[in-house]
This record gives sequence, structure tokens and C-alpha cells, in this order.
Amino acid sequence: MLDTLQNKNVLVTGGLGFIGSNLAIRLVELGANVTVIDSLIPESGGNKFNVSPIESEIEINNGDLRDAEMLSKAVVGMDYVFHLAGQVSHGDSMRDPELDLGMNCISSLNLVEACRHNCPDTRIVYTSTRQVYGVPQELPVTEAHPTLPVDVNGINKLAAEYYHLLYDRTYGLKSTVLRLTNTYGPRQQIRNNRQGFAGIFIRKSLQGEAIQIFGDGEQRRDFNYVDDVVEAILLAGCNEACFGDVFNLGAPAHYSLNEFIDALKTYRDFESSKISFPDDKKLIDIGDYYGDYSAFKRVTGWDPKVDLNEGLGRTLEFYQKYQKVYLS
Ligand SMILES: NC(=O)c1ccc[n+]([C@@H]2O[C@H](COP(=O)([O-])OP(=O)(O)OC[C@H]3O[C@@H](n4cnc5c(N)ncnc54)[C@H](O)[C@@H]3O)[C@@H](O)[C@H]2O)c1
Repeated sequence: MLDTLQNKNVLVTGGLGFIGSNLAIRLVELGANVTVIDSLIPESGGNKFNVSPIESEIEINNGDLRDAEMLSKAVVGMDYVFHLAGQVSHGDSMRDPELDLGMNCISSLNLVEACRHNCPDTRIVYTSTRQVYGVPQELPVTEAHPTLPVDVNGINKLAAEYYHLLYDRTYGLKSTVLRLTNTYGPRQQIRNNRQGFAGIFIRKSLQGEAIQIFGDGEQRRDFNYVDDVVEAILLAGCNEACFGDVFNLGAPAHYSLNEFIDALKTYRDFESSKISFPDDKKLIDIGDYYGDYSAFKRVTGWDPKVDLNEGLGRTLEFYQKYQKVYLS
């Protein structure tokens, strides 16, 4: 099915970031003509080194999606748009809500408007987040679960989902939304603490630093290795049955934070301890979360292939090789 991407014009927003760059690399392998838009927002996961294996084979546009005029030109002729640009830090969304509004809502609204007017036949995949559900009322969380975000980021991502669905319904702009869960793997920004606990734990394990777990460490989460997420994004874009709808990603197994640390300890030597939750983190913590991804599996056949242990091994190997870029 992914063969259809060969020779197609494909735009990846946020394509110098973690998931976007892995997606761009896969798209080049599949023979697509790839353009990435990424304004390399400071402190985000944007990093030109992320696309170094394909740099000579893609177009890089350093425009910002908040610039509607730039965007309306950039989308012309695009067969597919994978919309990954966004602000991912939940804590930052509380410290600077207006910045989050611009990066997640205004950018997304500009994108669907630009596509409606300039490439109405394109197919759009938007990467949203499990954070839109807030604190799970039951597990595993299905798409029918109420959405009650616990932070500004979750609200803005939810609004961005609705822009895509509205434009699909109202203007026939083929759009689908994937709600991603904790994604980890090569090319994630792990230098600072903005991208979630998986990246922080991976960095500390590489540096042999002690890891502090907030709470008792029994919070359960699901994890996806980035290659599996890339596959899901591509399948969603190529499957007509996905448009106009929202799907969870997820994993067949879920793990406590303690188990995640134990898995890291099979590769790296470091100390770990438990501390009580800092107040600002507790306020936006969602506790246990794992998603039901059976709807997406039914429609596309997607099932994650890389389990946590194997994925962590591959991730650590990558960062050991490129320590200077990602850790210094
Ligand atoms: N990583 C995860 O675990 C996870 C989980 C749930 C959802 N997501 C979603 O997946 C998407 C990609 O996340 P990621 O982890 O790759 O993040 P990332 O920070 O590594 O990449 C995002 C990229 O978008 C760019 N960007 C942001 N706003 C922009 C704008 N207005 N114009 C141009 N470029 C802009 C940044 O410079 C960065 O390179 C995001 O939408 C995020 O909400 C990620």
C-alpha cells in the first residue's frame, strides 16, 4: 500500500523534529519527493542533523506555520501533508499558553486553510496526543473516552484536531487524526527536559546519572518505538477509510515506570530513587494511561512490531554513536 507514495509530492511539517525527521527518512526510502517545513523553534526537537542521511534528497523550508502567506505557497502541488509541527511540552504550555496557542492552533488552522485553497485534493495526517483525554476514567482508553485535557497543550491539540475534522466534513479536505502515546527512539531531543520522561530517563541512563522517579513509579504507560509510529502515520495517509476520523495509537503491552527503568538497566548502569511529585508536575499528571488502538488496527492492519526492550536497545545504540550531537 505504501508503494503509492512513490514519486508523490509530500510535505512534512515539523520535519526536522524527532518523529518528522524519521518520517522524512522513510518517505525518501519509499521514493517520495519530500519537502520539510520546520522553523527550528528553540528548545524544541528541531535539529538539522536529524535529516543528515537525506539532506541532499529533500527540500528544506525554514518557514514558520504561523506565517499563513508562506504556507499557502508551500502547499501548492502537495499530494500528501503530514502535519507534525507543534509544541510538545505540557509544562511549557502552562508557562507560556499563548506560544502553545500559536504553535498548535494557529499553525494548524493556517495549514487547513492553505490546503483548502491551494491543494484541495491533498491528504492530511495530523499527529495529536493522548493528552486530550486528561485523566483516564477507564482503561484502556478508547476514542469514545471523554476529552478533558489537564493542560493548555491538550486543549490546543484538541482544537487542532477539530479544525482538521471540520475541514474534512465541510470542505471535503481529506484529513485524519492520530492520537499518539509516548513515542521514543532515535532523533528525539533528549538534551533538555521538555520532551517527556522517556527522553529524560534515556539521557540520564546514557550519562550514568541517577534517575529520580516521581511518586511510587507504578504509573502504567504504553510506549511506541518511532519506526512503528512512522508506519502508522504512512498507513493513515494512504488509507481512504481513515479520513474524517480520529484514531488512537498504542501498544500491545504496557509498563510501569519502574519496569521502564528496569528495562534500561539491562543496558546501562545507573542508580534510581523515588521522590514525591513536585506540585507543578502533579497538577498536570494523568496517572495511568494506556490506549486501545484496535480501531486503527482494524482499519489499517497496523500493529507495533518493536517491543520496549528491543526499542530501547536500538535507541541507546543510536545515541551512543551520536553523543556529541544529542548530548553535548
Ligand atoms: N513525541 C511524542 O511522544 C509525542 C506524543 C504525542 C504526540 N506527539 C505529537 O507528534 C508531533 C511531533 O512531535 P515530536 O516529538 O517529533 O516533536 P519535536 O519537538 O521533536 O518536533 C516538532 C518540530 O516542529 C517544529 N515546529 C513547531 N512549531 C512550528 C511552526 N509553527 N512552524 C514550523 N515548525 C514548527 C519544531 O521546530 C520541531 O522541529 C507533535 O505534533 C506532537 O504533539 C508526539
